[in-house]
Amino acid sequence: MFALKTAHGASDAELLADLLAQARALLEGERDAVANAANISSLVFHTLPDLNWAGFYWMKGGELVLGPFQGKPACVRIAVGRGVCGTAARDGRTIVVPDVEKFPGHIACDSASRSELVVPVKLDGTVIGVLDLDSPKLARFNDGHARALEQLVADFVRSTDLEA
Ligand code: SME
Repeated sequence: MFALKTAHGASDAELLADLLAQARALLEGERDAVANAANISSLVFHTLPDLNWAGFYWMKGGELVLGPFQGKPACVRIAVGRGVCGTAARDGRTIVVPDVEKFPGHIACDSASRSELVVPVKLDGTVIGVLDLDSPKLARFNDGHARALEQLVADFVRSTDLEA
């Protein structure tokens, strides 16, 4: 039985190492895409402090469509190239936005969001979706968070049956 651990007073590095370890435990023995994406979004949301949204968008019919997430209801469809998510999907690279108001074309799904981290989900080099984290704090995410969440996405892709 998986028991969610939340660390109080832990450093960022400890929190991120713990997040990756818990994710591997959750993903072990299960390859269903909806189940794994739902559990990963919940794990991220409940493990990392100061988030107001965490979840997936999937590439479907040439646009991003909302997938499993935690947080308030969000925009369902995002065109590739639009907002932070659409830009990360178009460019196939992770984007850290310290202040969403300074990102041209940022899509405000939740007006509480102040900073954002978006990691592309790639299968065999093709972008099949993104993992999006939103925070009500300015500059919540740094390169360390970006690298850890990229590792999390890589573990998710390796452990899940996904289609391009
Ligand atoms: N802010 C995102 C849209 C998705 S929501 O934050 C959940 C963007 O600009 O792409």
